[in-house]
Amino acid sequence: MSVPPRLSVIGTGYLGATHAVCMVELGYEVIGLDVDKAKIDRLIAGEVPFFEPELPELLKKHIDGGRLRFTTSYAEAAEFADVHFVCVGTPQRAGELAADMTYVEAAFASLAPHLTRKVLVVGKSTVPAGTAVRMEEVLHDLAPCPDVELAWNPEFLREGFAVQDTLRPDRLVMGVHSEWAEQQLRATFEPVIAAGTPVVVTDFATAELVKVAANSFLATKISFINAMAEVCETTGADVTKLADAIGYDARIGRRFLNAGLGFGGGCLPKDIRAFIARAGELGVDQAVSFLHEVDSINLRRRARTVDIGLDLLDGSYRGARVAALGAAFKPNSDDVRESPALDVASAIARREGTVVVYDPEAVENARRSHPELTYVASLEDALDQADIVFLLTEWDEFKNMHPGVVGKLVAQRNIVDGRNVLDPLRWRAAGWQYRALGRP
Ligand SMILES: NC(=O)c1ccc[n+]([C@@H]2O[C@H](COP(=O)([O-])OP(=O)(O)OC[C@H]3O[C@@H](n4cnc5c(N)ncnc54)[C@H](O)[C@@H]3O)[C@@H](O)[C@H]2O)c1
Repeated sequence: MSVPPRLSVIGTGYLGATHAVCMVELGYEVIGLDVDKAKIDRLIAGEVPFFEPELPELLKKHIDGGRLRFTTSYAEAAEFADVHFVCVGTPQRAGELAADMTYVEAAFASLAPHLTRKVLVVGKSTVPAGTAVRMEEVLHDLAPCPDVELAWNPEFLREGFAVQDTLRPDRLVMGVHSEWAEQQLRATFEPVIAAGTPVVVTDFATAELVKVAANSFLATKISFINAMAEVCETTGADVTKLADAIGYDARIGRRFLNAGLGFGGGCLPKDIRAFIARAGELGVDQAVSFLHEVDSINLRRRARTVDIGLDLLDGSYRGARVAALGAAFKPNSDDVRESPALDVASAIARREGTVVVYDPEAVENARRSHPELTYVASLEDALDQADIVFLLTEWDEFKNMHPGVVGKLVAQRNIVDGRNVLDPLRWRAAGWQYRALGRP
């Protein structure tokens, strides 16, 4: 490598903090910036503000090593870096399908006036098609240096595997307008590219669309198998066997074919909704109208889970003690954004069940977003005297439960396996009434 570029990462949430730390691990010097001072203070103290395996050790190592620092000052980040990654949030706008672009717009508007020399600004946030062209204009209008360039480099990391996904991504997508931008981005990912990672160089619109297309495909695959689960429920078929059987076809593949409570989190739901909204603005709504159905199938699974529990309790949750196992939207994360688990727990609480929630990592976040629910600190406390148990997030701790052992803690042996991860034969043999989605 010649002189490696120095990097800034703007927005140090799930994506940005991981990106900042991993780029130091790859050999770069990095400054992380956020407008949330409390978050920056925690990062400076070597504390990752969320749960992500492997990240705390790497953060500590690189803070101590002196090649990673954090700030709230745009002037300091601009002074330091040759390449700026914009990683701020693009959540769903309240009451609408579209993405809230105010954070992206604010980040560009705050950074641009400090750019006095030629640098590359790289958008990483997931954005509606057409955003990059708009942000390029912001740079041209507000940056004192006329040669500042923009690239779009969507991120595909999965929470729970974020470190490995960043160090060894499946591919790099580089949306660029010039050879210089491509070269600069290649220099920024030199070790990743040297390790054989495929690079796809595109225009801006393609780079923006790759990310939402990938998430739309994954969401569709999940909702496809959940639609099959609905049919299985009325025909007495077993969706898990069906998934195994069709998954052996290499054209289909078994991954992302696990029927259950469906998807949630800070990406898939809001990304497909923002795609629907943007396609509408562009006049191509018909092309993605199927995504409405993908979203509805996904949400219907939550209602169905509540109904299955109702069946087991003879039609009423009133006064029943309900153990809700899981609050995170998926295991190995403390992210509760759009969490199916918390949706189900709240729906049961609204039906006057006494819901007790346990999650190995997400209780703190869940308490903030759903203060109406009761939280406990251990699996045993959640199961204690429960009339019904709901497995809502497939943490190993729940998958590994022994039906005989946990059967001694509960008041009634009723379980709803919302993730199809338990062995029905084993649980039924231990005297449990076992019910699941899409399975007899
Ligand atoms: N979380 C993931 O797994 C993941 C994966 C791929 C892509 N993405 C995309 O990455 C983006 C960020 O997602 P996230 O999950 O990290 O969100 P997040 O909410 O965890 O983090 C966003 C951060 O941006 C900061 N921020 C907001 N406005 C700012 C500003 N003007 N200047 C500096 N910082 C600012 C916030 O304080 C916050 O810390 C989104 O577009 C998301 O769709 C996320």
